[in-house]
Amino acid sequence: MQLVNLGLVGGGTVGGGVWTALARNGALMAARLGVDLQIVRVAVRDLKKPRSVAFPDKIVTDDWRSVVRDPSVHVVLELMGGTTTAREVVLEALRLGKPVVTANKALLSRHGEELFAASAKHSTNLYYEASVAGGIPIIKILRESLAGNRITQIAGIVNGTCNYILTRMKLEGADLATVLADAQRLGYAEAEPSLDIDGHDAAQKTGILASLAHGFWVKPEFIPTEGIRNISPLDIQFAQRLGYTIKLLGMVKEVVRGTGAKKGLRSIQVAVYPALVPNGHVLASVNHAYNAIAVRGDVVGETLFYGRGAGSDATASSVLSDVADAALDLKHGSNRRVPPFVSHTVRGSIFPISEVVSPYYIRLMVVDRPGVFARIATLLARAKIGISTIIQPEGHAGEVVPVILMLHDATHAAMQKVLGQIAKLPLVKASPVLIRVEPFE
Ligand code: NAP
Ligand code: HSE
Repeated sequence: MQLVNLGLVGGGTVGGGVWTALARNGALMAARLGVDLQIVRVAVRDLKKPRSVAFPDKIVTDDWRSVVRDPSVHVVLELMGGTTTAREVVLEALRLGKPVVTANKALLSRHGEELFAASAKHSTNLYYEASVAGGIPIIKILRESLAGNRITQIAGIVNGTCNYILTRMKLEGADLATVLADAQRLGYAEAEPSLDIDGHDAAQKTGILASLAHGFWVKPEFIPTEGIRNISPLDIQFAQRLGYTIKLLGMVKEVVRGTGAKKGLRSIQVAVYPALVPNGHVLASVNHAYNAIAVRGDVVGETLFYGRGAGSDATASSVLSDVADAALDLKHGSNRRVPPFVSHTVRGSIFPISEVVSPYYIRLMVVDRPGVFARIATLLARAKIGISTIIQPEGHAGEVVPVILMLHDATHAAMQKVLGQIAKLPLVKASPVLIRVEPFE
């Protein structure tokens, strides 16, 4: 049987998971693939750090170059994270003609074009299933299984940490900081947790999905991104009362644009934002660190993919899927069998967020006085934004109370403008909270 040796750069949450999963299922994989997979080298940063996985001393080093350059290593697994040294690791392995498996969405987002160009130049491949949605094989689905479809919409819960936090805020009334500490302890959060909380991790993943689906690079810096830092238990409770659950969504929607010569120019709406999801929609019941991605194709219709979106085992499962592809490619000498990434030939653009239309939820903290509501309603009427529901819990005259308004469709630009005017009213006492409603029609 052919032997394929793996070199791990990174032996933390994901690297440790890969070690454990391969120890458990290596024989099964060998039987399936006809390839014997062995981890022969592991690089870590700190050799003295206590670890839950006991790598044999003789294969561990703190010198990543010695792993990548070891002639006995056939496939390099970049599982260290970050974008500086990780870039060097990947480029060095590709330069040596070695296939690379990575779980690093930040690296792909920042340096993807360079890395895929290097993989083509050196006639090898870069695999990245674990970079989006942990254990859900969404990359293979978009790149291979749905190859016969035009993808018209992707709606995803793609950050396990935020979903874990929002779930516990809803179910237990827990506060964000406490739950984030638990997410860190459980290995879900990024080393820099603001990447999760502020939506950047979700934007990197949504950009990868949008690029794959639409064939041109969609970089996170062009994706309007809002995280969950400002979501309060109050909004979670009011949303529940109105029949909704707040979720952090990565959305990619095809926008039909252009006529005549411009017909067919691809434009997509891409954004990451917390949204009110109707409780009847399946995404509303995706809880804890689970992820789910609803993909709509013009041939297949609606599809849904669900699974653990973060953590050691789930991510290891996706890494091993890539290892299997890399090993089979080596075995059959077909290093470009799996298409690498976007086509680089399609022209496309991102639809401006200011023009995106949706219904909205707003929460205002107002002084409970006669006339306050009339003033808010007048400003909304002038902006031609209709109100569908109002909730004003009973308070005492002169007290500051929350007022919730559910608004009909409005453009993002119109909402921002009117909200600025409302915020200036003397009876409005705190910054208004604005959350999009995603009706999924
Ligand atoms: P982690 O637990 O912090 O592990 C990182 C590993 O890289 C550690 O073993 C660390 O060594 C090692 N390392 C860091 N710098 C190094 C260097 N210069 N040379 C050699 N080794 C170095 O991180 P993780 O959670 O496993 O995440 C790894 C990657 O997977 C990231 O790109 C992340 O975004 C991605 N990812 C993570 C998850 C998840 O649920 N955790 C899911 C999907 C994707 P020490 O152990 O000595 O510190
Ligand atoms: N921090 C990421 C998350 C890890 O919580 O989803 C998985 O990519």
